[in-house]
Parts: sequence; C-alpha cells; structure tokens
Amino acid sequence: MMKFPEGFLWGASTAPHQIEGNNLSSDWWAREGLVPGMELSGDAVDSYHHYRDDMRLLAESGLNTYRFGIEWARIEPREGQISRAGLAHYRRMIDEALRLGLTPVVTLHHFTNPRWFAEQGGFLNPAAPAIFARYVTTVTEILDGVDWVITMNEPNMLAMMMMLQEQMRAGQQNEWQSPTVEGDSSRDQIAASLPTPSPEFGQRLVDAHHAVRDIIRERTGARVGWTVANQALTSTPGNESRLIEVRHDWEDFYLDAASGDDFIGVQSYSSQQVDENGLVPHPDHPDNTLVGTAYRPDALGMAVSHTWERTGLPVLVTENGIATADDARRIDYTRAALNGLHEAIAAGADVRGYLHWSLLDNFEWGHWGPTFGLISVDRTSLNFDRHPKPSLGWLGDVARRNSLTN
Ligand code: BGC
Repeated sequence: MMKFPEGFLWGASTAPHQIEGNNLSSDWWAREGLVPGMELSGDAVDSYHHYRDDMRLLAESGLNTYRFGIEWARIEPREGQISRAGLAHYRRMIDEALRLGLTPVVTLHHFTNPRWFAEQGGFLNPAAPAIFARYVTTVTEILDGVDWVITMNEPNMLAMMMMLQEQMRAGQQNEWQSPTVEGDSSRDQIAASLPTPSPEFGQRLVDAHHAVRDIIRERTGARVGWTVANQALTSTPGNESRLIEVRHDWEDFYLDAASGDDFIGVQSYSSQQVDENGLVPHPDHPDNTLVGTAYRPDALGMAVSHTWERTGLPVLVTENGIATADDARRIDYTRAALNGLHEAIAAGADVRGYLHWSLLDNFEWGHWGPTFGLISVDRTSLNFDRHPKPSLGWLGDVARRNSLTN
C-alpha cells in the first residue's frame, strides 16, 4: 500500500478550447477553418454549458481538484473590449467548484490567443507582456477563493508552435502539423523535423510570465506558477552532453525561468531519447498511444524527479495521461505512473498533487481521434451526454483512500 502525503490534491485537468466549443474569437478557431486535414473544434463537448455536470461527475468520483482554464478570447474578444458576461461565466465555474468542495486550479492561457492578439504578432509583439498583463489584471477580479493559478500552459510547446507558424509565414513550411500528435503529416519522421523551441522565442513567454506573476500574487494571494511539458529525456550512449543541450532548449530553460514562482507544474506523457541529431522520433511500436508516442508510464517519475532537482519548487502534476481507446489500458498506465510518482516522493520530491489529463475526451488540437478522457461524450446527442469510464471510478477510489494498492 502506497500512501500519498496528507492533503494531496487528486483531480483532472481540461483546457477551454478543447472542451467548451465555439471559441469564435480565438486564433485557433480562425486557423481551423483554413488548414486542410485539420478537424474542427466546433461545439467541442459543449462544456461551456455542461461544466456543472462535468464538475459533479468529478466530485462524485472521489476526486477533489479540478483544473480548468479561462479563455482570454472570451474575456477580451476585441482589443480593450472586456466581456463582463465572460468574466461572470468563469466566476460561476469557480463558485461551482468551491460549492462542490473541489480545489480549483485555474489556467490563464492554454495555447489559444484572441485573434486580434495573434494578428498583432502574438507573443512576438514587443508589447505582448503589457497586453497580457492587462488581461491578467482584469481576470484577477474573479479569482477570489482560487489558491492555484497557472499563468501559461506549456510555454515550451507554445514556443515550438510559434516557430512552426513563423516558418509557415516565411514559406519554409507549408504543411500543418498538430503540436501534440506525432507523425501527423505526410513528411517522413516528422518528429525529427519539429523545431526545437529556440530560447529566443521562449524568452518572450518568460517575459510575459514574469510580467504577471506579482500582479496575481498581490491582487489575489494565490500561488502562481506555470506548467512545463516534460519529455523525460535520456541520452543514447555517448550523447550525454547533447542531452544537456537539447534538454536545456526543450525544458530546462523554462524550469529555470520558474525560479521565484510558488510551484511548478509537471506535464508528462512519455519518454524520448536524444542522439547526436537531437530528439529521436518515437519508434513505431504496436504499444504506441493514439498520438503516436511510446507507452512509457515510467516517464512521470522521471519528469517529476528532474523537475524537482532542477527547480527545488513544490511540484504539482498538472497533466499525465494516455490517448487510448482501451480504458483498462488507461488504468494500467495510470497505476504504473502513480507508482513512479510515489517513488519520486519517497526519494524526497515535494509533490502536492496529481491531476490527470483529461477529465473528458476532447478536441486534441486538430483531431478528435485520440481519446484521453476519464469520461466519454456523445457529441451527436443534443445534451452531449457524458459517460464516465471505469478509469474515473478507479482514480476516484485512489483519491478517497489517498493511497495506491498494487
Ligand atoms: C496539452 C494538452 C494536450 C495534451 C495531450 C498537452 O501538451 O497541454 O492541451 O491535449 O498534452 O496531448
């Protein structure tokens, strides 16, 4: 029996664009219509209207924490035009979480931008930190009672997406590539050609993060951090120094920028090797997940240990999960991942909670096929009927006992 620390947060995560539906004023919505081969988010799973059902199912399972996001494009659909109704919507979500006894973990930016912000160059615009700070200041008005605030989701993946977009604009690249689905292109070995996010791009995001950190602390008293995608990188023999360089640009640069934060979010799915050419694409294997990544539940313990050693900050696992159509496999994966997490805690890592990705099957950035959810949704029904999977009950039991039995 593996006991987790007292007061451990157990929950699940979501992101607004992936679940809400009709995110009409966002850059992703605009892009989805233009790019061939990319599926549309459309109504998503209409969580904008069904968030109460989603939180109730989560709370009834035994989980105690819900991570969700505020969509900037709904708060500020045109530059400077603040939607009071948009703010009120997210306040109702926070109230509902608190009413159900759930700890809300609130993300302020999860990959999507308002379209007008993107048209001004997004985070490449020198004015971006000030513009982002203005939005964040507005949002602090509704954050009363929220203890955990994430400024930005996966700045390292966002920097990589910014580079891809720049390459497309410059005509060096004309095929769209999902940021999260491996091999989602006709090009061979796509993973090898995904650009390593250059710290030059990443620095823009660091500046934006630093611009809002103290604003949030001063106006709300919440703990502030950001979440970094961790690939649990290892080196092929003889490439140890290359690993250090590659890991710096993919992860450590963003972990180092968290210095002075209150916590660090760890997001882990798989593990990858580094050779002399950089990241080695996930080898083809029957066990690979529906997003093409290797089945590596041990990655979570590796990612948490590395993050803890590098930052010394309290760790919140803000995402971990698997894209699979086989829910028994989801349970196996999660059990093994929690084993690794428990080992990292036993070795000294200060870990405050585990939030599974994701509460719901959702829009996987251009695709509906890869299902990460603890709950499936019938998107053909008028009510977007929710169907909890056995994995939701299983994880809820772990949460209730605050321990894992093998
Ligand atoms: C992102 C999520 C995404 C998940 C699974 C993370 O990169 O934060 O938005 O759905 O991984 O691919």
